[in-house]
Amino acid sequence: MGFVAAAIGSAVGLGNMWRFSYLTAENGGAAFVVLYLAITALVGLPVLLAEVVLGRGSQQSPVRALAHYGGNAWRPLGFVFVTAGFLILAYYGVIAGWTLRYTAIAVFAGFDADIADQFAGIAQGGDAFILHAVFMLATIVVVAGGVKGGIERAALILMPLLFLLVCGLAIYAATLEGGGSGYAYYLQADLGKLLSRDVLTQAAGQAFFSLSLGMGAMLTFGSYLGRDHNLPNETVIIAGADVGIAFIAGLVVFPMIFALGLSDAVSGSTVGALFITLPQAFAGMGFVGRVVGGLFFAALMVGALTSAVSLLEVVVSSTIDGLGWTRQRAAWIMGGLITLLGLPAAFSLDVLDVMDQVANNLFLLGGGLALSIFVGWVMKDPVSEASIGAEGTRWFFLWRLLLRFVVPALLLFVLYDAVPKTLKAVTGLVASFF
Ligand code: TRP
Repeated sequence: MGFVAAAIGSAVGLGNMWRFSYLTAENGGAAFVVLYLAITALVGLPVLLAEVVLGRGSQQSPVRALAHYGGNAWRPLGFVFVTAGFLILAYYGVIAGWTLRYTAIAVFAGFDADIADQFAGIAQGGDAFILHAVFMLATIVVVAGGVKGGIERAALILMPLLFLLVCGLAIYAATLEGGGSGYAYYLQADLGKLLSRDVLTQAAGQAFFSLSLGMGAMLTFGSYLGRDHNLPNETVIIAGADVGIAFIAGLVVFPMIFALGLSDAVSGSTVGALFITLPQAFAGMGFVGRVVGGLFFAALMVGALTSAVSLLEVVVSSTIDGLGWTRQRAAWIMGGLITLLGLPAAFSLDVLDVMDQVANNLFLLGGGLALSIFVGWVMKDPVSEASIGAEGTRWFFLWRLLLRFVVPALLLFVLYDAVPKTLKAVTGLVASFF
């Protein structure tokens, strides 16, 4: 499969639907959306190009790519990347498990009118863990080498289908009465809120998560590329597709929250915003709801699988390079450990939420800072590497400027506040168990 398709497969997943709508709901709507879009353009896109340039230039997996350009002192950063992969996949699998459950409900029973109230019960407990384990099993089988071709073909069909379904649902949502305040919430930015550092942190974390940045996943994809690829063009296409799907998902979720009177159900568990609003709409659509709902959650599940594969691949390729394990062994042992690490997230939405904060606010933003400094300041002449296969050099000047100054400055500004806040959330969570 082509690089652009594979990278879009990694980028488009639960982040675009589940995470984007939950963070937008939590952070006051439109102001968050504006910041997220701005940060994707000014920070996400340059870091995406930086990762791909590192990968293609070195033709190596993350740890070796860093050592290739920066010497052995940079190796430890590779371990930070691997840890991030561990942490993210552990709770990502739990949410993917919810999509399995919702697909089954749509197909076998149809959604109940009170599905919103059932969410907390569905999302936590032994069942949630088992479905997480089933999803992880599928991810491990793919990464261990079995069925990559099949998955890629399935993704090639289901991802466009997911896109069409989301567009269709956005049109459906527009026909609902009372959705107007939902659009206002989603699209009318309150400029006062733009200045909040907390919203900025969440928006930056989301930009990194959604584009699969900050832990070497895109670097790994880049390492398979030849010198005939036009990297700036291709990264713009990847980012555009990723942002586009998230934005349209918001056009579904927010009018629905208001039209169906779900604000209370959602504010009780913002983490579940998507899983509370959509099935409620499907419940009201009868048989059509079962078909559309089943297809929607099945497509989301496949999107989650292609993303999960890229997460596990970073861990596995590093284990193969670093410990000399076989691919089979690395995939099963590391995948098994990640499955176990998902146990607390499967039993508590609070734990899941904190894991999500730690992964994004500390690991991905910290990883992005390190990557921008690495490519901006340490790597010799990244511009000539990036310009192979591309035309024109005007934009590269801007790219390097962003990587050297704007990206690190913004990430430092955000991290200064996010690090203590996130650590506080962790200690708060630990304390709540005693
Ligand atoms: N981007 C994916 C999503 O939006 C998740 C993901 C896959 C990811 N690989 C990653 C996030 C690497 C961070 C880093 O669902």
